Amino acid sequence: MPGMDQLRVGRPGPRHAGELWTVQRAAYVSEAQRYDAPRIPPLLETLEQVRADLAGDVPAAAAWLGPRLVGSVRGRVEGDRMEIARLTVAPDVQGRGVGRALLAAVHAAAPAVVVRFWLVTGSASHDNRRLYAAAGYREAGTAVDAAGVELVRMERERGVSARCGHGP
Ligand SMILES: CC(C)(COP(=O)(O)OP(=O)(O)OC[C@H]1O[C@@H](n2cnc3c(N)ncnc32)[C@H](O)[C@@H]1OP(=O)(O)O)[C@@H](O)C(=O)NCCC(=O)NCCS
Repeated sequence: MPGMDQLRVGRPGPRHAGELWTVQRAAYVSEAQRYDAPRIPPLLETLEQVRADLAGDVPAAAAWLGPRLVGSVRGRVEGDRMEIARLTVAPDVQGRGVGRALLAAVHAAAPAVVVRFWLVTGSASHDNRRLYAAAGYREAGTAVDAAGVELVRMERERGVSARCGHGP
């Protein structure tokens, strides 16, 4: 595998939809197993839905290690808020800073009108909660998804600087 000095983050296009969807499905298997919930929304998303996002003006970032796409994230803008969705890193590349880099990139890709970021993550997904807390997110309530999984909602002002300098 290429070294992390070969990591490149950029905007994926519709031609990357197949690879991106495949990595997303692989990454979410661990979450599905954790909650014994194979029908969590990210695993129900179709290739066509992913391709449509990438063909449009949805804020998005992908990471490549050499030629290989190893992760991605998308934003969903509504008014002055943007949801961070589908942050995923290939299972064999996790824990090396790719997720953190993708989160910073999608923050930076948000249109100027966005003043607040929010997201949901599984309440038992403690590694995820730590990643978002380190990026400046604070917990702001709970919810339950369509598969019955308990979620934590986390939010962050656009302007705040993240702990440990992992901004923007
Ligand atoms: C969550 C995810 C995107 C993080 O990406 P990553 O590249 O592994 O994370 P990074 O290496 O950039 O950041 C590491 C931090 O993220 C957290 N983390 C989350 N998942 C992790 C994992 N599998 N391995 C290591 N760290 C993980 C840790 O808190 C870690 O912080 P630390 O260095 O202080 O311990 C990735 O693990 C993943 O795809 N998980 C499955 C899908 C998922 O749950 N997505 C999030 C939905 S809300």
